[in-house]
Amino acid sequence: MALYTTVTDAITQYTGLSPAAFFTISAMMVVVYKVVSGMFVAADAYVAVKREQQIALREPVQLGSITEEELRPYNGSDPNKPLLMAIKGKIYDVSRSRMFYGPGGPYALFAGRDASRALALMSFEPSDLTGNTEGLSASELEVLEDWEAKFEEKYVKVGQLVSEKTSTVVEEDQTKVD
Ligand code: HEM
Repeated sequence: MALYTTVTDAITQYTGLSPAAFFTISAMMVVVYKVVSGMFVAADAYVAVKREQQIALREPVQLGSITEEELRPYNGSDPNKPLLMAIKGKIYDVSRSRMFYGPGGPYALFAGRDASRALALMSFEPSDLTGNTEGLSASELEVLEDWEAKFEEKYVKVGQLVSEKTSTVVEEDQTKVD
């Protein structure tokens, strides 16, 4: 009790305020601090969202012919790279649908891949993450065509998959001629 009296006396002496007024003002200052600092956190998040939107809205870059291996890094793990996905060997820039295909998204497993087989079978099996459509039924191939039509309409095509770089083959051929 003696400590309480000492503290309240000291408050009154140093601030000229009653202890109740002092604690009310202190509490209000804490609240104002929390609200103001909360605004700054929100501003940070806003900047991050804007940055992501800018990346998503960038003009798609044409890649030409690339291999499946070269497509892999465009799976959203590098936020500075566009998000790409292929259907029947055609590569689409799906960056505008980062919420679907970006890390943590429901269809993130398709990013950086040719997902033809998975889409035809409506499957999330990792073994179906391939452009190989061998053995699919007519109705499954029809499902795949519907997906292809959707992607053609919604996304920009930025290249096509090749089993090996043509330029490398040409270089090899030249070596053979030499
Ligand atoms: C319970 C099952 C499922 C539900 C409730 C569901 C729901 C949805 C919804 C609400 C959308 C957003 C549609 C839009 O706004 O355009 C969507 C998109 C999509 N779904 Fe599903 N889905 C399911 C299963 C699947 C399966 C099995 C696959 C393929 C293996 C799949 C592939 C996709 C793809 C690729 C998109 C994105 C298309 C785009 O880029 O616009 N979904 N799904």
